[in-house]
Amino acid sequence: QSKRSGILARFAKDLPVTDKTPSLSLCEGDTPLIPAPYLSERVQAQVYLKYEGANPTGSFKDRGMVMAIAKAIEEGSQAVICASTGNTSAAAAAYAARAGLRCVVIIPAGYVALGKLAQALAYGAEVISIAGNFDEALTIVRDVAASEPITLVNSVNPYRLQGQKTAAFELVETLGKAPDYLAIPVGNAGNISAYHMGFVEWDQARQSGVPHMLGFQAAGAAPIVSGHIVEKPDTIATAIRIGNPASWQLANRALADSRGAIAAVTDEEILDAYRLLAKREGVFAEPASAAPIAGILKRATSLPFSPDDKIVCVLTGNGLKDPDTAVSSQRVATRTVEASRNAVWRAIVEGKS
Ligand code: F0G
Repeated sequence: QSKRSGILARFAKDLPVTDKTPSLSLCEGDTPLIPAPYLSERVQAQVYLKYEGANPTGSFKDRGMVMAIAKAIEEGSQAVICASTGNTSAAAAAYAARAGLRCVVIIPAGYVALGKLAQALAYGAEVISIAGNFDEALTIVRDVAASEPITLVNSVNPYRLQGQKTAAFELVETLGKAPDYLAIPVGNAGNISAYHMGFVEWDQARQSGVPHMLGFQAAGAAPIVSGHIVEKPDTIATAIRIGNPASWQLANRALADSRGAIAAVTDEEILDAYRLLAKREGVFAEPASAAPIAGILKRATSLPFSPDDKIVCVLTGNGLKDPDTAVSSQRVATRTVEASRNAVWRAIVEGKS
């Protein structure tokens, strides 16, 4: 198999792929692991960025969605539904389009980043917006899918986590073994659970190790950190604006089994990390993806890493997903000058001072 044939082909023997599973692929997975010299210096350890924004719809959701949609087809389904803060809906819409399935997405009105909404519409999903948050949307779609002939493709569908665990396999392939730490944003808590499952499976088969899982939630949406459901979650990182994660128990088990930790980072810390990542490392990821960057910077000030420690930060979504935050969060705006050589040079000289 060529490497770019997608995760179902590459990792078939580690996935619930049967003779009847269609070979669906948009060439997802095989994403870059980018060394991060600036962050490595800052936290005094070896930091790498797993750039999931390089997936076909620009987020890690493609890994889980290709598996979930392939199984939906295998089971004879003709329609899929999901609740989403944006990325799940973009991935569901793309793979459903590819497979010729109807796709319905339920989103929290006003809290889905523009790029993600554009994707759902472009791929032909039917978008229904509710005057409620993600948690309410998820309750509704679970209810509908339980009694109607439509397949639920949120991460409570077990095939989603199966597909998503393949990112852990890629890290082991690239680094030769598991890193010491895996730092990851936590919203509905599916992805941290999926990575942990992937590391554990390969560790059992080939002694590749299991990293300490470091989960990071936004301070305004940190139910796992506080141990309580958050009724009105709020954060600039709309992807993880979730108050009652579906995979809460799985995440707690991953944290305990890996001797990991979960912590909160404020929106200010997220935005600082978001800007720093783009400006210092040249890597543009969406705000939620900056949570683990903010998290390791904060952790290093009180619990230093060892210089040999390998830390992988999962950059879950592409920076272009959220153009509004990209523009509004900058301290320096675009300058408009007269269309002449002198005006432009004057602006360049002024800009340096
Ligand atoms: N980062 C991004 C960019 C996300 O879109 C999400 C989740 C997460 C992190 C958190 O992952 O939920 O597995 O803990 N987005 C979901 C969605 C909720 O609807 O797109 P998680």
